[in-house]
Amino acid sequence: MRTRHREPQTLGEGTLDRVARILAARNIDPATAAAPAQEPEPFSPLEALSAGMPPRYRAAVADHPQVLAWVRDVAKAAVAPNQGARRQVAAGPSLLMAGVVGAGKTHQAYGAIRKLVQSGVGVRWRATTAADLYADLRPRPGADSERELAAVSRCPLLIIDDLGAAKASEWVEEVTYRLINRRYNYELPTLITTNLAIRDLRAHLGDRVSSRLAQMTTRVEFEQVDRRRHRLAA
Ligand SMILES: Nc1ncnc2c1ncn2[C@@H]1O[C@H](COP(=O)(O)OP(=O)(O)OP(=O)(O)O)[C@@H](O)[C@H]1O
Ligand SMILES: [Mg+2]
Repeated sequence: MRTRHREPQTLGEGTLDRVARILAARNIDPATAAAPAQEPEPFSPLEALSAGMPPRYRAAVADHPQVLAWVRDVAKAAVAPNQGARRQVAAGPSLLMAGVVGAGKTHQAYGAIRKLVQSGVGVRWRATTAADLYADLRPRPGADSERELAAVSRCPLLIIDDLGAAKASEWVEEVTYRLINRRYNYELPTLITTNLAIRDLRAHLGDRVSSRLAQMTTRVEFEQVDRRRHRLAA
């Protein structure tokens, strides 16, 4: 499973309102404006959300008590950017979801975003596996890696899936430090999943990352069941 952080992401009503205002300012009737894509535009926050999610997790429902508590906390901390505007996810707590392969961590992470959108707050979010993120951030001709790192680091809500699954190196440690440090400093809600125990994360990503994670995240343990195999066996 690969979750790419370049996929279209959730927009919500705020964005649709902005588009309507821009069209009105240009005297363009929204009804006659050409549709930019072949697919019909998503028209509700939940549909927009689904469009930005990998198909496997589009119907994911978060039901882990700690994940539900996190959703409530993040929704409560949401703030309106200006008077009358919809409240948006801003600062908030983070989760470190740890468990064996197939335990349901990614399912809970996407389900948590769905719950947040259902709660009525605006959510700008991204999801990436750590391995995909490193691949995208590798310096290469034509790519602005610094800009990409800044965008991921500043995104109001970020899923970092499979932290610790990529091969360790000094470069991986440094990029992860810069990402986590930024989110730590600005208290940006981050959902992290990992197969590693905390001591192994420390060995993999260094003390500076693991120390910040220890403070900024609540650890969520999953039952030691691989739901993929369990399902096949049933
Ligand atoms: N609560 C749930 N209800 C129904 N299906 C679930 C639930 N949790 C997980 N699943 C399904 O179980 C499978 C494994 O879940 P998921 O991919 O979230 O595991 P994971 O912990 O992220 O595994 P990995 O560490 O390998 O990434 C998926 O097919 C997912 O859709
Ligand atoms: Mg996963």
